[in-house]
Amino acid sequence: MSSENRPSVPNSLNEHWMPFTANKDFKENPRLITEAKGMYLKNHHGKTMIDASSGLFCNPFGHGRKEIISAVTKQLETLDYTQPFQQGFGGSFELATRITKHTPGNLNRIFFSTGGSDAVETAIKISIAYHKANGQGSRFRIVGRERAYHGMHIGGTSVGGMINNVKTYASLLMPGVVHMRHTHLPDHKFVSGQPETGVELADDLERIAANFGAENIAACIVEPTAGSTGTLVPPKGYLQRLREICDKHGILLIFDEVITGWGRMGSAFASQEFRVTPDIMTMAKATTNGVVPMGAVACKEEIYNTIVDNAPKGAIELFHGYTYSAIPVAVAAGLAIQDIIEKEDIFNRVKELVPYYQKAIFSLRDLDVVENIRGYGLMAGVDMKMDQKPGKAGFTCYKHCYEVGVNFKATGDCLIIAPMFISEKKHIDEIIDKLRTGILNYSKNKKN
Ligand SMILES: Cc1ncc(COP(=O)(O)O)c(C=O)c1O
Repeated sequence: MSSENRPSVPNSLNEHWMPFTANKDFKENPRLITEAKGMYLKNHHGKTMIDASSGLFCNPFGHGRKEIISAVTKQLETLDYTQPFQQGFGGSFELATRITKHTPGNLNRIFFSTGGSDAVETAIKISIAYHKANGQGSRFRIVGRERAYHGMHIGGTSVGGMINNVKTYASLLMPGVVHMRHTHLPDHKFVSGQPETGVELADDLERIAANFGAENIAACIVEPTAGSTGTLVPPKGYLQRLREICDKHGILLIFDEVITGWGRMGSAFASQEFRVTPDIMTMAKATTNGVVPMGAVACKEEIYNTIVDNAPKGAIELFHGYTYSAIPVAVAAGLAIQDIIEKEDIFNRVKELVPYYQKAIFSLRDLDVVENIRGYGLMAGVDMKMDQKPGKAGFTCYKHCYEVGVNFKATGDCLIIAPMFISEKKHIDEIIDKLRTGILNYSKNKKN
């Protein structure tokens, strides 16, 4: 059947095994999205919903952007694909240059990947390759953090710390990984912005260096604000402390900015927002507004130089890459995003909206079933009180909200609300009104 004639509900839902989905539950009562425009989605019942999590944090510039459609179409008509190994095309170089206008410090060397998980694997490999090229091949350990999400490949799963993502695959995980504690303390209840307490949790890295030998540690990877676990904002001074410990021991600091990048925290990257410059940084999602998969890793110039200058002349310096690294359509979408960022002054626009959003989302704290709210920038986590077992309250509440016309991502019992960068105050009001109604409906329908 041609895509123009596709029915809104397919004849069979059996064959597609959906990712991170309760497949049986979904197939009994599917939620299919048929159209997307601006801030809004339409589902197969014809109901319009406001998108309150920018897709999976990846469409913050709005759905159906004409600029992206025409850039991608034009690119497909001119050059649809070229192999990215030992040859290339001009667009990827132009995009890399434009990305480096926004990366912090001298993180001016960009390695393209095909999404966030690939970006994390790339960052880990680059950290190992850097130390090898620098004569410190003993550094093999990577330090991650509890409750982290770094994608679903083996490296990212290993350094990640969300238990359900890890436990089935324990036998496959990367050796040498050690985890710091997460930063969510009991006194971080209903804190908007950075918590005052918890800086000492960064000293876990110092303990790990002492216990495992700093000379064995290649890198420490963190999400500057942990996103998928439900918005854990770094305590004041925490990221600075990590930076100091890394510097002291020659450990590379990797910021995974797959969610926080491109404006989510109110600056181009969380790095600038929290004034800490990592050595390596990942990005994905908003890089192309999520419409064509793409990720990227930004590295300090000395990391690139060390690896490239240490390889024999004429040889491949880093044995790593993907068939779809910076393919032309992804690049076209990425360049269109760079234009939009400039033309619409996106970072300042987000910064202006943040106080309004944070006040609005915290207004939900009066609801009985709301256990906690945390937030920074245009992102917040709204925890539901647990109902019988973890995850049930979050998923049930999400379904009630979907029914009243607000769509978002829920993780466990946390509703993650991350409005688009192009939101206006009226959109924030609509999101909050609908969330309130959806949460109240959930509360009324709860069995106990
Ligand atoms: C911080 C972080 N890293 C990596 C990933 C993985 O990205 P992808 O799903 O594009 O592979 C995600 C996805 O949400 C993420 O939030």
